[in-house]
Amino acid sequence: MKTSALIIAAACVPFLSACNTSQPTPKQATATPAVEPWVADARAAASSVPPKLLAVLQPAIKERGPAGAIDVCSKEAPKLAKAASEQTGWQIRRVSLKNRNPKAVPDAWERATLESFDKAQAAGVDPAMLERAEVVVENGQSVRRYMRALPVQQACLQCHGTADKLGAGVAQKLTQLYPNDKGTGYTLGQIRGAMTLRQPVAN
Ligand code: HEC
Repeated sequence: MKTSALIIAAACVPFLSACNTSQPTPKQATATPAVEPWVADARAAASSVPPKLLAVLQPAIKERGPAGAIDVCSKEAPKLAKAASEQTGWQIRRVSLKNRNPKAVPDAWERATLESFDKAQAAGVDPAMLERAEVVVENGQSVRRYMRALPVQQACLQCHGTADKLGAGVAQKLTQLYPNDKGTGYTLGQIRGAMTLRQPVAN
């Protein structure tokens, strides 16, 4: 069985927005390897959730403003991840090195991956292209793991940006709902977190 496959900037999948094709060639881009079918499958499953979330978040922000839409994100994000998990057979969630949801804490593999994403982004790689796929052994069981970075875009700043960029009432609402929130202070293009997927390999 293949074990370690670190894929950075392997493919630009239109994710939260269009791929940034005007960006110069990423510094760390390697020759695009042909991916195994499970990686393509994980990639598709990971890419399916963020557009669905944005589709409910954007109208909510328009209607109630960013502070009013925070509840929508709290309820819908876990629900959509759960629905996608049931549909695809992947365990799907979101994690961050600076998590807002107290449950969105990365495990060791996820932490190392997020740190490598941050390094790649700082070195000039387009964050929308950052992903990692690897088969790891956990307690004697082979597990497929996949992560895809979630870059900070303009629309994210009103709820995750620096204090001057947060929407009206957002800071107050976040203090109420997430007293230990670490998920603000971001600037455009940084990595807010990642979609993370796992699936035990059937024996
Ligand atoms: C209306 C406010 C709002 C906007 C806009 C928003 N988020 Fe969030 N975000 C939240 C809230 C609230 C949570 C916590 C949700 C939960 O409880 O699971 C969250 C959680 C997350 C998480 C999960 C990890 C964690 O820290 O809990 C990621 C990743 C994330 N957001 C990325 C983004 C990205 C990328 C964008 C822009 C495309 C974005 N968010 C836009 C409010 C927002």
